[in-house]
This record gives sequence, structure tokens and C-alpha cells, in this order.
Amino acid sequence: MEKNDILLQVSGVSKSFPGVRALDGMNLSVRRGTVHALMGENGAGKSTLMKILTGLYQRDSGEITLDGVPLETHTISAVIAQGISMIYQELNPIEGMTVAENIFCGKEPCRVKLFYVDRAAMNRQAAALLEKLGVIGISPTAKLHTLSNAQKQLVEIAKAISNDSKLIIMDEPTSAITESECQRLFETIKRLQASGMTFIYITHKMDEIFSICDEVTVMRDGKYVDTRPVSEVTHDSLVAMMVGRAITNVYPKQKAQIGETVLEVRELCAGKSFHNVSFELKKGEILGFAGLMGAGRTEIAEALFGTRPITGGEVFVEGKKARIGTPRDAIRLRMAMLTEDRRLTGCLINSKVYDNILTLMWKRLRGPLGIDHRKGKQICNEQIGRFSIKTTGPDQRMRNLSGGNQQKVLLARWLLTEPDILILDEPTRGIDVGAKYEIYQDMVRLAQQGKSIIMISSELPEVLGMSDRILVMHEGEQMKILDAAQADQETIMRYASGIA
Ligand SMILES: Nc1ncnc2c1ncn2[C@@H]1O[C@H](COP(=O)(O)OP(=O)(O)OP(=O)(O)O)[C@@H](O)[C@H]1O
Ligand SMILES: [Mg+2]
Repeated sequence: MEKNDILLQVSGVSKSFPGVRALDGMNLSVRRGTVHALMGENGAGKSTLMKILTGLYQRDSGEITLDGVPLETHTISAVIAQGISMIYQELNPIEGMTVAENIFCGKEPCRVKLFYVDRAAMNRQAAALLEKLGVIGISPTAKLHTLSNAQKQLVEIAKAISNDSKLIIMDEPTSAITESECQRLFETIKRLQASGMTFIYITHKMDEIFSICDEVTVMRDGKYVDTRPVSEVTHDSLVAMMVGRAITNVYPKQKAQIGETVLEVRELCAGKSFHNVSFELKKGEILGFAGLMGAGRTEIAEALFGTRPITGGEVFVEGKKARIGTPRDAIRLRMAMLTEDRRLTGCLINSKVYDNILTLMWKRLRGPLGIDHRKGKQICNEQIGRFSIKTTGPDQRMRNLSGGNQQKVLLARWLLTEPDILILDEPTRGIDVGAKYEIYQDMVRLAQQGKSIIMISSELPEVLGMSDRILVMHEGEQMKILDAAQADQETIMRYASGIA
């Protein structure tokens, strides 16, 4: 078969949920042996389309063919048997089983037909598969829960290969792995691509498009916009295709009036996670925290917010020594924290958007006759409008929102508490370019109102573009505080990798 012929063809696929048309006559042609990027704003319908391709959702109308043959999408296992595997945004391997058991789950090699599993053979085959993928350091007999996110992802890929997949779908695969793991993943993808594998790759990160993708399809509001070879697009033309307008200045940072110190941290320690961190945060200031994953940035935020025990040092808020043992203490001191992992902390996934936005407001909404839900609805709708949250309304369940829109709901919740000190841990992870810009504008506005912000971010351009000063961490040690105006990516990277 010729390389570059069409492997997957999606024509006119539509899908509605109550109150939303998630896909509206969507088209997609994926060529064999390519890495095909799918981009679009939060809620554009990317994940929904992939869930249809993998049999998780059923489409309302439209045609899908794989290798020219209509794709049977009634069950997940039928799709896998036809050659499509998906590595999910939220990985779901079985944690108590071994690597080999996960890979061969349901198709274990047997010694006497169907009587007992030939573990030795299974482990051997798993090892061979991992080797073929160029993966080192994962034992077939290791239990899944002992692996990192990146390793689990590789196990999922091995599983896809063992299923003889022709097409592997990845939905924001780098959102929870480190920089070097990311490079390793790209190598694996390239290696498989060279052997003829085809990929659909969903991401909000532009640089990933340019480093591993061949073609890119942009969708907007459930509709197909265009497909282009990556060599023919630029950062700006992609943004314009996605958002429908050009965004010229990506970082709308403006210097706010810097006032007196609101938060002072002296020689703060928390067990093994970080030591002797000292800094001051001033009124109107945005202080960026840079470093590689695992450098201790999130741990500092947790210690400041009362979710991680402090083992040494002192914290002063507005000049007074603060005792922050619980988040309640922190909130009382007018602090707020948006955590990096919305699924583990903060997000009430089975509740309504309404409850998620207002969860810290109940006290203020309580009147003599109980909670004032009319006022609540009004506040909730204002927040939905301000952050352009794509939802059918306050009554929609959080789990039915797209990933990026869940993040916006949490941000809206915290800003309602009118904090003086706002800690944002990876605030734009999984957020599309247009919405990122809105979040940056909000940060600038808050700083100009005299609020102080700590922003943890793994994206260097973002840290550089939005911060006044940048604190760089390396393996639990504070390396340096840089003036953002004088810093550049290289300098930050040197400190972050412990070289400088
Ligand atoms: N199970 C569901 N029930 C109701 N609505 C849903 C469901 N799944 C998705 N939606 C809606 O369909 C639309 C498309 O969502 P989808 O998750 O496909 O977006 P996405 O492009 O993947 O966005 P993101 O970049 O934020 O991940 C959104 O408006 C979302 O709220
Ligand atoms: Mg999605």
C-alpha cells in the first residue's frame, strides 16, 4: 500500500448532547504514516470526536471509514479489533496489575489452551515489545502504581502495539509529564511512525505541533475549519484559524504599581520537598515560579496554603506572623490557590457548574431565609460570561464540560473570594490560546487592583511574559530570583537544571 494514502476518513459527523451541538458535520482525513494534529479552542469538540472514533460515544450521523472500510463503532472492543487505540487524557490502566498483565489484559498467552496463563511467555513478550518501543527501565513485572505517568503512558502505547493498531490517538499526552519524558515520548512516536504507524495528536501546545506533527486540522465550534501541512502554517496563522481572529500580543503584561510587601517567606522548609525558601511578594506583583517538574514549586504553594506541613521557617502576611495549618486558615488570610491537578483537588466533578463556582460563597449568600439562589444564579452567570465558559448553563454537570472549561470554572470560583494573594499552579494547562489570553488579562487586571500573584508555570515564555520577578527552583533548592525584564529562557533553564 502506498504511503500517504488516506487511512482514516471522517465525513459529516455530528453529535449533540442535551443543549449542545458538540460536532456539526465534522470532516477529517488522516494520511497513513503521518502524525496528524487536531487543534481547536476548549470545547471545540476534539475529545468528543475521538470518543466517537473509539466507540465510547455513538455519533448521530456521518460516515467513518478506516482503510476504505466503514468503521464499526458500536463497541470499544470492536474498534480496537479494527485497529484504533486511544491513549486517554486521564489514563486508566489497572493499578494493581503488572506491566505485562496490563499490556496483555484479555489476550494472555496460555500454555495449555485457555487453562492457565503462561506468565513467563507473557513477561518475555512484554519485554520484547517495550524494547521495540525503545523503552528502557520498565520491568514487565513491575506493578503499575509504581510507575510514573510517563511510564504508564508508554505501557498504554505498548498495549496499542500489541493490539496491532494502525492508528493511535493521543489526547493531550504531555499535560502531566516532565520535559525530558516528553522528549522520550516524541522519540517513541517518531520511531513508530517510521515503521508505518499513524497518529492523531491533540494538543494546545504550539511547539509540539512544529516538532512532531506533519499535518494539522483545526476545528471550531464542532465544525471543520481547515487541514494544512505543518510546513505551511505559522504560530500566528494557526492561532487565527483557531480563534477566528489574530492575537498579536500574546502576553498583555503591563507593569502595575508595586506596593509594600504582603507576603514574606523566611527559610521555609517542608521535609524533603524543599528547603530554605525565602522571598517577598509585593502588592501588585506577579512572581513567577520556574523550574522543572519535581523541583518543589507545587510543594511550596501547598505549604503556603496549608495542605503540606511546614517543617521549618516562617511566613508573614501583611507583616504579621501567620500560622497556616489548613486551607481555611489561608482563605481567612485572603489567599486563594488554583491547583495544578483539577481532578484530584478542587473540582466537584459530579456536581453542577453552579455548585463548583459558588462552593466558597455559600456563607455570603446565606440570608435570613436560607441561601439566596437567585443572587447565586446571577453571580454564576456573570462568571460564565466573564471567563467565556462554554457550558449550557449553571445546571450542567461539571463532568460534561471539556477539560479546559473545567479549569476556567475553578479559576472563576477562586476569583470570587476576592483574594489578596492568589497562587496559580499551572493556570493555563490545557487552556486554548484565546482563553489563555483572557486569563493573562485577568491576572494583569488583578495586579493593577493591588492584588499579588504567585504563578507556577512550566512554560518559560509564559513565566517570562507575565512575571515581574522569577524565582527559580532546582530539586527543592531555591536557585535564584531573577528580574523578569533582564531574564531570558536560557538563564532560567541554567538555574532550573542546577548548572548556574
Ligand atoms: N458527555 C457529555 N454530555 C454533555 N455535553 C458534553 C459531553 N461531552 C462533551 N460535551 C460538550 O461538548 C462540547 C465539546 O467538548 P469536548 O470535550 O469535545 O471539547 P474539546 O475540544 O476536547 O475541549 P478541550 O480542549 O477543553 O479538551 C463541549 O461543549 C462539552 O461541554
Ligand atoms: Mg478535550
